[in-house]
Amino acid sequence: MNSRHAIFFLAVAVAVLPAAAQHADDTIRNPFTSEEDIEAGGRLYRSHCAVCHGINGEGARGADLTTGSFRHGSADRDLFNTISVGIPGTEMPGIFFNGRQMWQLVAFVRSLSHGRAAEQATGDPQKGRAVYAANGCSGCHRIRGEGGRMGPDLSDIGGSRSLAHLQTSILSPDESVLPQHWMVRAKSKNGKPISGMRMNEDTFSVQLIDPAGNLASFNKADLAEYAVDRSSGMPSFEGMITGDDFENLVAYLASLRLKGAADATE
Ligand code: HEC
Ligand code: HEC
Repeated sequence: MNSRHAIFFLAVAVAVLPAAAQHADDTIRNPFTSEEDIEAGGRLYRSHCAVCHGINGEGARGADLTTGSFRHGSADRDLFNTISVGIPGTEMPGIFFNGRQMWQLVAFVRSLSHGRAAEQATGDPQKGRAVYAANGCSGCHRIRGEGGRMGPDLSDIGGSRSLAHLQTSILSPDESVLPQHWMVRAKSKNGKPISGMRMNEDTFSVQLIDPAGNLASFNKADLAEYAVDRSSGMPSFEGMITGDDFENLVAYLASLRLKGAADATE
């Protein structure tokens, strides 16, 4: 988790001076994402936002918030900004509650697209499983404990990502890399190369998952070189998986859930 300090600093910076947020670390994650937070965000949403965005985020006078991709930026920090500052020149007003309430709103807005992927997918998940197997996806990804560790675990991917994100992940991986999947490329002071998926980072330290799947933690002061690579370690399958195969694969991913995720929009 990021330190609460950074989060509250951001909240204050956004409130006082919107431009300051652009210099803030764009790895900032929402610290308030529990079921209770989503519910609290939902109450604020229904009283202040539903009038334009629809009670289930389906959009009307305001944008559709259920697709999982946001034109004004999809990172947590971007949503926080959009909602607090508004979108100048449009009907979207800036609204400012306290920092915690703002994050709860962000959590709720995100929940509008989660778990909907399976409903929206048009393909056949059973056939998609075969497409997944035929394209070597499991060489890098695990599903319920089986597969490689080069890429993230996909066991709950349908419950936690929107349909749009799943499609982009396969066709244009570089455009959909989440901050927790950025790769760290570093070197220790004695010249040993270090690499892995960046789980967490603050000013002084970084935690990553190395290619063997182990969690490792480093003090940045102990490293001779340190760089974060935001491009995807996944090849694009554009032009390789097409038509029904593509729709079926997306439907298969959308069907992957760890538990019957509660629909937070009720
Ligand atoms: C008076 C109508 C109105 C209200 C009230 C309103 N919005 Fe909006 N909102 C809009 C419009 C219109 C847009 C699209 C602006 C544009 O053209 O980009 C928008 C855009 C957005 C976006 C960006 C969508 C994207 O694709 O990037 C988010 C997120 C959002 N609103 C959330 C909220 C939240 C949360 C609230 C309540 C706190 C809220 N809005 C209240 C009208 C409204
Ligand atoms: C060479 C290894 C590799 C292969 C092969 C591969 N991936 Fe990936 N995949 C990754 C890495 C690394 C990431 C994390 C970076 C990113 O999001 O692009 C990723 C990300 C993803 C994500 C987004 C995960 C998230 O948390 O949002 C999905 C979905 C996905 N891959 C599906 C697939 C499917 C389906 C296939 C087979 C068609 C596949 N991958 C093949 C390495 C791979």
